[in-house]
Amino acid sequence: MRPQRQRELIERYLGFRSGKWTDVAAESMRNPAAAYVDPRRFDREMKVLFRDRPVPIGLSCECREPGSFLTASLGGVPVAVVRQPGGSLRGFVNACRHRGAPVLSGRGGGLRAMVCPYHAWSYGLDGTLLSRPQEPGFDDVPRDKCGLGEVAVAEHYGLIYARVSKGAAFSVDDVLEGMQTEIAEYSLADYTHFETRTREWKFNWKLIIDTFAEPYHIPALHRRSIAPYYEDRNSIWDTWGLHQRTVNFRRSIDRELAEKPPAERLLLPHTTVEYFLLPNALLTHQLDHVELWRVTPISVDRCLVATSLYAPEPPETESAKKHWKKNLDLLLQVTENEDFPMMANIHAALASGALAEVVYGKIEPALSFYHQALDRLLAQAEDA
Ligand code: FES
Ligand SMILES: [Fe+2]
Repeated sequence: MRPQRQRELIERYLGFRSGKWTDVAAESMRNPAAAYVDPRRFDREMKVLFRDRPVPIGLSCECREPGSFLTASLGGVPVAVVRQPGGSLRGFVNACRHRGAPVLSGRGGGLRAMVCPYHAWSYGLDGTLLSRPQEPGFDDVPRDKCGLGEVAVAEHYGLIYARVSKGAAFSVDDVLEGMQTEIAEYSLADYTHFETRTREWKFNWKLIIDTFAEPYHIPALHRRSIAPYYEDRNSIWDTWGLHQRTVNFRRSIDRELAEKPPAERLLLPHTTVEYFLLPNALLTHQLDHVELWRVTPISVDRCLVATSLYAPEPPETESAKKHWKKNLDLLLQVTENEDFPMMANIHAALASGALAEVVYGKIEPALSFYHQALDRLLAQAEDA
């Protein structure tokens, strides 16, 4: 984030301290429990949010070299994106045209061809079929009809999006509605992917995003861990179309304010800045690094959470590697021991039918804005 913008945001924070309330929503919101537990709503989300619209699937820096790839499941459709020899990215349905096995798994690099692990049909990086063992056994199945299905991909500002529904090409500018100007200032493409850890949870996928949408829970839920380091009020909140970013402050900002003149102050070393990437991810700048939290819905009450950490420089020394590993350990220690188990309990309560709705207060503006954005996308799809 460019220094001038950092200083403007610090000025807004100082405004909170001299009397203005934290950024708030115009009103509180009630969301029916069904938004989290209704299987019909879940099916609509899979189609409208995950198959018909672009979904973020990673950062360019984790798929940089020709032959490197990422995989994802978008509304249940297995997808792979592969860096081409010319540098562009292509997206495919990650299901072999023989019998449907996933051709690629996880993430990786160094591909010259994509070889299906089941019977070794082999595809070029452009998805065309190269060879089939015992070819005469398929001589009545035209080879040119056996390339991998195409998936639309867009890449810009270091972000990668994919969309599985057929239709016109799309751009990251179309997707982000203006928020990209600020994201561009991080030069995400220059970061280095350090590690991604994935874990399954038993609750609705949206509860992952909810976890990060407000700092209001920090003094209570995190009282034994991170609470002493964070401000639980005075959050900055901005929106662009259906997109939004929050800035939450650490108490270390006090040092910056005391020790530096206004023109030299920096925001990023003292904050958690979160960009909500609809429908299912958060791009976070935290102190000295970037994180991507990406949730993949499995069913209405199960999801897979991938946490990726990206370092500003390639971690070449042992101490740099230790530093980033410790950061990731700590992140997951707090979320996996405190936040996500709470989400599992919340899901159980909502699924029991005991509560008709949940409440998002005015002081939790990102929470209501996120759910209103999803509701709006679902409603637009109904009307269409
Ligand atoms: S399913 Fe891929 S080669 Fe048979
Ligand atoms: Fe939390």
